[in-house]
Amino acid sequence: MEAIPVRLTLNIPVAVMSHNTFGHLFRVTTWGESHGPALGCVVDGCPPGLRFMLADIQAWLDKRKPGQSRFVTQRREDDLVKVLSGVMLDDDGETMIATGTPISMMIENTDQRSKDYSEIAKRYRPGHADYTYDVKYGIRDYRGGGRSSARETAARVAAGAIARKVVPGLIVRGALVQIGKHRIDRANWDWAEVENNPFFSPDPAIVPVWEDYLDGIRKAGSSIGAVVEVIAEGVPAGIGAPIYGKLDQDIASNLMSINAVKGVEIGNGFAAAEISGEENADEMRIGSGGEPVFLSNKAGGILGGIATGQPVVARFAIKPTSSILTERRSIDSDGNEVDVRTKGRHDPCVGIRAVPIGEAMLACTIADHYLRDRGQTGRLK
Ligand SMILES: Cc1cc2nc3c(=O)[nH]c(=O)nc-3n(C[C@H](O)[C@H](O)[C@H](O)COP(=O)(O)O)c2cc1C
Repeated sequence: MEAIPVRLTLNIPVAVMSHNTFGHLFRVTTWGESHGPALGCVVDGCPPGLRFMLADIQAWLDKRKPGQSRFVTQRREDDLVKVLSGVMLDDDGETMIATGTPISMMIENTDQRSKDYSEIAKRYRPGHADYTYDVKYGIRDYRGGGRSSARETAARVAAGAIARKVVPGLIVRGALVQIGKHRIDRANWDWAEVENNPFFSPDPAIVPVWEDYLDGIRKAGSSIGAVVEVIAEGVPAGIGAPIYGKLDQDIASNLMSINAVKGVEIGNGFAAAEISGEENADEMRIGSGGEPVFLSNKAGGILGGIATGQPVVARFAIKPTSSILTERRSIDSDGNEVDVRTKGRHDPCVGIRAVPIGEAMLACTIADHYLRDRGQTGRLK
């Protein structure tokens, strides 16, 4: 009798080792360094037939790009995105139609000043990733921080623009809600205001306070942390998964993957630890159209790892930029004790430009879960 060949398939994601990929069905791989010729991403798993324009992607990159106010790094990058693969142009010559094959996008680096970084070629900036990259890889692209630079996040923003299109009716928005100890007044929250100030603040009253405060920080060559809130509306109830593939788990993981993020909350987050069960549970009623209605949203739109259909709400804390002008004690790769003062152009508060990055990571996570739900249940179109 002829032997039947047996093929073993291991259910392990292909990118288990190098960790430049996230997502399962909406799968994003980024590549590139701060001072290399270009950076970009490959989005695999985009549903065929999805239509988008280059301007749909560019708009989000424009929101993230550096040099737009005195409160962010003065590096000048146009961040013009090119789509290299995975699309066909429609007859209008502009609309791109996803073919279902990998969508590769590229953004050129044009304003590198690598000499600013020669002093830290051997010295470890306290609070930055210099020491750990050397320990792990034994070789480090110190120019602009190499791969540890948040330049990489431009590629995520490009992927996020496509993710937003994958889920019909999805709206993902973000805002800066705290700089240092100065918080917004949530009673003043107005989404229209977010586009009217250099901080993405939904509260116009805090803007002059933040301006004065950050001017002082910037002139002192120092830096400060911040809190960003991201909200997704139009998330279909039922997407997500229990136990090991929770929607909140994946959101937390993907937000935490952003440079300088040190904490993530879903819904009322750490405040849930301070209140009673009566206060915390979102009560339910039947709406006028017979639909379920939640009377509050402490859960941040997720219960048991699965979306309730309410807005998905997440916040993340960003640490102060480690690159500062004040000398800090450190060591170098030759084993000497040194003092490090970081030159170059840096964001005094990286939380500002983290707003569109957080939005992109939330959009990618939801798009991935949307496709996973469709694959498993076939409910969603
Ligand atoms: C939008 C953005 C811009 C950033 N710009 C800088 C910068 O100019 N200088 C700096 O030292 N760190 C900057 N960072 C933070 C570093 O990339 C980050 O602290 C570093 O990679 C170490 O990683 P960790 O803070 O997550 O441990 C930025 C982060 C973000 C999100």
